[in-house]
Amino acid sequence: MIQAVRGTKDILPNNSHVWQFIENKCREVTTQFAYSETRTPIFEKTEVFKRSIGDETDIVNKEMYTFEDKGGESLTLRPEGTAAIVRAAVQNALLSQGNLLRTWYFGSFFRYERPQKGRLREFHQFGCECIGSPNPEADAEIIMLATRLLKSIGIIDFKLMINTLGDEEVRGKYREILINYLHEHQSELSEDSQRRMEGNPLRVLDSKDERDKQVIENAPQILDSLNETSKQHFETVLTMLDSAGIKYVITPRLVRGLDYYCHTVFEFQSDALGSQDSLGGGGRYNGLFEALGGKPAPSVGFAMGVERLILILDALDKVKELKSSVDCYIIYSDPKYLAYACRATSILREAGLSAICDLHRRSFKSQFKEANKYNARYAVIIGDEEIEKKQVTIKNMTESTQVVIEIENLANWASNS
Ligand code: HAM
Repeated sequence: MIQAVRGTKDILPNNSHVWQFIENKCREVTTQFAYSETRTPIFEKTEVFKRSIGDETDIVNKEMYTFEDKGGESLTLRPEGTAAIVRAAVQNALLSQGNLLRTWYFGSFFRYERPQKGRLREFHQFGCECIGSPNPEADAEIIMLATRLLKSIGIIDFKLMINTLGDEEVRGKYREILINYLHEHQSELSEDSQRRMEGNPLRVLDSKDERDKQVIENAPQILDSLNETSKQHFETVLTMLDSAGIKYVITPRLVRGLDYYCHTVFEFQSDALGSQDSLGGGGRYNGLFEALGGKPAPSVGFAMGVERLILILDALDKVKELKSSVDCYIIYSDPKYLAYACRATSILREAGLSAICDLHRRSFKSQFKEANKYNARYAVIIGDEEIEKKQVTIKNMTESTQVVIEIENLANWASNS
């Protein structure tokens, strides 16, 4: 037997309806916010990710699936969606001056990480990008969309952590303060952080290494280095979240694992996830279009990990409630009534209902069991009497009530049920 690749998972028929439930909610919520879907290729030129996510990040440094194709070109399986969306927007000139692009995506992404609960090598993200507005109301819209999605799938007990990284001036000033501080504590830091502290000190704040944690805990905060513009941007985002009734926790050391962020950064966490507690995150990225050869287009977005959303739904016992079902299960008492059963099934499907009948020629009793297994709303019963009178008996499986209907009137019944 050949096993699936470590860190990948099949989505099987017995739980694909949970995925479809989430996908449908993503479609519903993005429609409410007038976001349209983008689908980009699974792989891109490696440069797309190197130039955007940042050379010093774990993603680019350690986790990318990069390979040379037969033509000698370096390609990478997409580790995230934002860089690919920006590449597509630049290439297809999706944003003419002054325009706004609201877009979403759903698909699989690849990171060579150590697999554990909630951490895979192929995982799925649902993401949204609001492209072209420098204003804090765009940040607020993105966070409102993300929280709406969580609520619509039944996740209400999440924590929204939020911080600001300010503009370039702020980050320049803070960088120096942070480098000075890290120098004082150099010997206490992990090798990775010692290497990163000169080139990219903000990455040290994102380190998960135990040796770095104490140093990070006492590090100076970027919030103390904010200039007036950055302060105002952040405060407006927070005011808008307040007015939308969205609760948040200001988290001064939240920097996120990708280099392209400025101003607002945020992350959603849930206790139901254990150590991989981040179910989604995002932030503003004003410089990414230029980094990928486009005109400036200040933007903001987020992505959620779909496997993690499902883990939370499971922990909340909500997956069980999401049973898939059929409208009608046709039950016939004798194989000689197959043609009649087939006619009834066809009429029901023509009328827009889902309808199936047994393919194993099981006993009458077993067919009832099957109807329950399929979670059928109605059992459509065909026995001697029904055949004789050209009727069907329809049993409502939840209310246990029954009606007898002329087969001539079955389509009519179906369109009213
Ligand atoms: P990210 O924080 O790297 O952000 O990923 C977003 C979410 O994807 C995480 O919170 C997590 O739920 C999920 N995720 C990441 N890696 C894995 C993994 N190995 N296994 C399972 N789930 C995982 C981004 O990717 C940014 N592009 C978000 C963004 C959009 N920022 C602006 N726009």
